Amino acid sequence: MINVRDVSLDDIEKIRTWRNNPAVAKYMYTDHYISLEEHQRWFNRIHADPSMRYWIIVSDGTDVGVIGLSNIDHVNKRASWAFYLAEESARGKGIGSYLEYFILNYSFEDLKLNKLCCEVLDINKNVVDMHKSFGFKEEGYFRQHIWKIDEAHDVHVLAILAVEWAAIKDSICVRLKQKGVLP
Ligand SMILES: CC(C)(COP(=O)(O)OP(=O)(O)OC[C@H]1O[C@@H](n2cnc3c(N)ncnc32)[C@H](O)[C@@H]1OP(=O)(O)O)[C@@H](O)C(=O)NCCC(=O)NCCS
Repeated sequence: MINVRDVSLDDIEKIRTWRNNPAVAKYMYTDHYISLEEHQRWFNRIHADPSMRYWIIVSDGTDVGVIGLSNIDHVNKRASWAFYLAEESARGKGIGSYLEYFILNYSFEDLKLNKLCCEVLDINKNVVDMHKSFGFKEEGYFRQHIWKIDEAHDVHVLAILAVEWAAIKDSICVRLKQKGVLP
């Protein structure tokens, strides 16, 4: 069973360890070593800033990763999102699909947003394809946008509108049920 719960103070060190894991940092915009002080500042910010919301991903009772919304903008009715599963052994089993379905429903049905955006590094083409399979459309491509170690990376810019999600939600639900991702 997969569920999400709000990030709490007890999660601080665990998230820092996850985020400093090269298997996670590789796909994030920043991959420098995150100190306790820097992490504490991030933690304080996500709790003070209403434009951010983060959850711990729990699979069969075990904490396995983080999913979050940022830039939640109720004026323009949009937000951005990202997620990761900390252990590579947790990936490829449908947890990510369950979460993508969750964040789309949460954004459009609970927060009543009109648009959900995300950005994906060029080295993560599978995730670009995954987002497209949930109805995200490529809106842009930032060339040499992020420097990681000693190399510039391009970034895929994707988004989906509320009306687009409403049109395909049922078929996605059927697909996820067939795959055993949804009950
Ligand atoms: C992205 C991530 C959360 C996806 O979760 P997941 O549980 O592995 O995804 P799923 O098992 O539900 O796979 C969903 C689909 O995407 C494909 N996919 C997702 N990530 C993939 C990867 N890294 N390599 C190959 N295929 C991948 C799966 O094959 C599957 O395709 P299908 O629906 O045709 O079978 C997870 O792979 C992860 O944590 N990656 C590292 C961090 C990251 O890249 N985060 C996104 C930053 S933008």
